[in-house]
Amino acid sequence: MASSDLDPRPGLVRRLRLASHLLADASYDALRYWRHSFTAGARVQENLRARIAIGLHFLEYGMSLRDAQPGHALDRAMRLAADLDTYTRRFGPDATVQIALDALEAYLGFNAASGHDLPALRARVDALVGGADEGLRGGVEMVTASEIREKGRIDFLSFAEARHSIRQYSPEPVPREAIERAVRVAQQSPSSCNRQTCRAWIWTEREAVQKVLALQNGNRGFGDQLGGVAVVTSDIAHWETAAERYQGWVDGGMFAMSLAYGLHAEGLGAVMLNWSVSQARDRALRRLTGIGDSSLIITMIGFGCLPDELRVPVSQRKPLGYALALNQPLAG
Ligand SMILES: Cc1cc2nc3c(=O)[nH]c(=O)nc-3n(C[C@H](O)[C@H](O)[C@H](O)COP(=O)(O)O)c2cc1C
Repeated sequence: MASSDLDPRPGLVRRLRLASHLLADASYDALRYWRHSFTAGARVQENLRARIAIGLHFLEYGMSLRDAQPGHALDRAMRLAADLDTYTRRFGPDATVQIALDALEAYLGFNAASGHDLPALRARVDALVGGADEGLRGGVEMVTASEIREKGRIDFLSFAEARHSIRQYSPEPVPREAIERAVRVAQQSPSSCNRQTCRAWIWTEREAVQKVLALQNGNRGFGDQLGGVAVVTSDIAHWETAAERYQGWVDGGMFAMSLAYGLHAEGLGAVMLNWSVSQARDRALRRLTGIGDSSLIITMIGFGCLPDELRVPVSQRKPLGYALALNQPLAG
């Protein structure tokens, strides 16, 4: 049976109405991408901060290769120094500047060590004003396989298998420290060129939690038990090209998953709460919370303390072959 035979096809008017909703919501996303990304040049601080992150990322990337080449990406280094100059003049020397300056110093050092002095870049960097030293670093560092294995030693499969979407909670308040540690876990998620576009907006006061949850359609039967709610966002202002238009959803999804694992690691319960909404609902949440137009709202996550005993869905995973296609033959 062809897949188009599975459901009766709606009439033309209904199909046109469905398609127009899709187009309206897609243009809501596209117009916001156009307004806030720097596809047509940087306009706001976050645009420039993102371009600085990309520039310094390429320097670190090049220096971290086994066959690292002196002089690689010099054009990027010069542009980074120029962006830092503009940035410090407009916004002052903050953490962004400090990290990028440290990376530029590392890049100059790396080149000098192989006999490549870069006088034009040296002069530009010397002219830049650094921020107060907050211990923020850029560049590359040596690590060993045994260090990585030692620090990462955990039965991750069993950790992941012990996580469930929790829909029963006990009423104790969630310690602030646990929330902070979970968000630090989320911050460790990979992000495109290390742009770190994501943020967890978290409410734990009952009235605020319930106001936020009132706009979400998937917490019936347990929302009133939640000890907190997180709204995960990703800032569109960090994206440069049209080709990156979905990157925020990817980075945001990864950040959200890490946050869920971070909460799980703190012994808390958590449940993803979809933000599959129309633009009217999306705007309503922005009005309530102050989340700006340039942020994509990725998902909500409800969380709280676990009761001693509770029921969870089995949520059986499909056989591995659904998720793993290993070494499939390639054409040609
Ligand atoms: C993006 C996303 C949105 C979700 N939205 C909801 C929701 O609104 N309400 C809910 O109770 N669960 C929600 N879930 C949880 C899923 O139902 C759950 O992850 C799935 O059934 C697998 O179960 P498990 O998380 O216990 O392994 C969502 C999950 C994801 C990834």
